Amino acid sequence: SLKAKIGQHRFNNVLLNAAGIRCATTDELTKILHSTAGGCVTKSATPEPREGNESPRMKATSMGCINSMGLPNHGLDYYLKFAEENQGKNDNQVLLSIAGLTVAQNLEMLHKIQDSSFNGLTELNLSCPNIKGESQIAYDFEAVRDILTKAFKFFTKEIGIKLPPYFDMHQFDQIADVLNDFPITYVNSINSIGNGLVVNADTESVVIKPKGGFGGLGGDYVKPTALANVRALRLRLKPEIAIIGTGGIKSGRDVFEHVLCGANVVQIGTAFGFDGVPIFERISKELKEIMAEKGYTSLDDFRGKLKTL
Ligand code: DHB
Repeated sequence: SLKAKIGQHRFNNVLLNAAGIRCATTDELTKILHSTAGGCVTKSATPEPREGNESPRMKATSMGCINSMGLPNHGLDYYLKFAEENQGKNDNQVLLSIAGLTVAQNLEMLHKIQDSSFNGLTELNLSCPNIKGESQIAYDFEAVRDILTKAFKFFTKEIGIKLPPYFDMHQFDQIADVLNDFPITYVNSINSIGNGLVVNADTESVVIKPKGGFGGLGGDYVKPTALANVRALRLRLKPEIAIIGTGGIKSGRDVFEHVLCGANVVQIGTAFGFDGVPIFERISKELKEIMAEKGYTSLDDFRGKLKTL
């Protein structure tokens, strides 16, 4: 089977959508919950609704996509209500993603969640690359320690951290040292590779409008970086911290690779944007076929068992 678990939460399927794509409205979220996916992740919320950046703000390419959405969302109350009403039915989990623009905003949202009837997983996004003038919080290790120290003074529910990609072995050591000091339930690696630039040689132009064309990359561009982050963190984090693998998944084979690197659950962003909810059934089927060929009956049979040479 493709069942999976994170903390106390069971997932009837290892596949989820990744925050940001086709998950901003209750209609889109309900479609995911009714699909083969093991649950849904909500568009990262801010305390108040936001329009986001100017258009065009997302562009598909042959290898994936570039975006600078700027956190367009309906505000925390909207997603929290959906999460309270739909949490955990039939092992379909609702993950509530939040992305405050400041520490204070994140703490304000965590207080609201703490005081609510939502008992699912909250995904604290410390890695949005597209807010003008703001940096990706999780590249500042002491800032991560500060926010987690403040959060765990009152937050008693389960929390995961959405991380940006790291590119240096010393960064893996440093972020793991911080995260291992807290009772977090999972990390999610990776968010988009921030501030890439897609250039159109025909028009001699950038392809999205915000920030002079710079934006987060997803899709084929990011898979090896995602696998490296899942693997490097699995080797460094304490075993109680689960890992959600996100980045470059568009086939059952890609999921298999993420699980080999240590992923407990995976999320699909760019390819879900291209294909919509049918992707969950297709990839589930592909993954089951690979597992059957190899004689594996559960994800536990090969999770984290990547061989080195
Ligand atoms: C956006 C993009 C991200 O990669 C993210 O983590 C949060 C928000 C966005 O631009 O909306």
